Amino acid sequence: MGEGNIATVLVVNGPNLNTLGTREPSIYGSRTLASIIEELAAHALNGTPPFAIDAFQSNHEGAIIDFLHERGPAAAGLIINPGALSHYSYALRDAIAGIKKPTVEVHLSNIHAREPFRHTSVTAPVANGLIAGLGARGYLLAADWVRAEVIAQRERDNA
Ligand code: DQA
Repeated sequence: MGEGNIATVLVVNGPNLNTLGTREPSIYGSRTLASIIEELAAHALNGTPPFAIDAFQSNHEGAIIDFLHERGPAAAGLIINPGALSHYSYALRDAIAGIKKPTVEVHLSNIHAREPFRHTSVTAPVANGLIAGLGARGYLLAADWVRAEVIAQRERDNA
């Protein structure tokens, strides 16, 4: 665990998500990634137990994989919006699978209601679950589930 004795959850956003706010707002909403992350960090810290988030965005597949390798072992969980990498990156899928931490894949848009190439996520099968189409609130819901998993893990450890 990082940050004293509170858990740290990785929040990873992939290609083009740095342009949220101006990028196709009718699909992705008008909020910036910074605003979404700020709200998520407060939500994480204000719950019980509180947890910290370690947020990372990159437009580069390899940089995301390096981040997961470096930070994954100490993290309590992972919330990841891989962007378009979801649809084709077996390398990212393998990196997520290697972490073996509670993982939620988030998509702002409902990928199943869009172009056929978005209907497949090659990364979702190695996540515990997938939230798609609920906009920025999807990240908060993912955090609630990860928090519940952290509690369940602590109870298992203390049993
Ligand atoms: C996305 C959906 C992907 O298909 C797309 O390539 C993105 C964003 C979403 O959050 O809805 O970059 O992951």
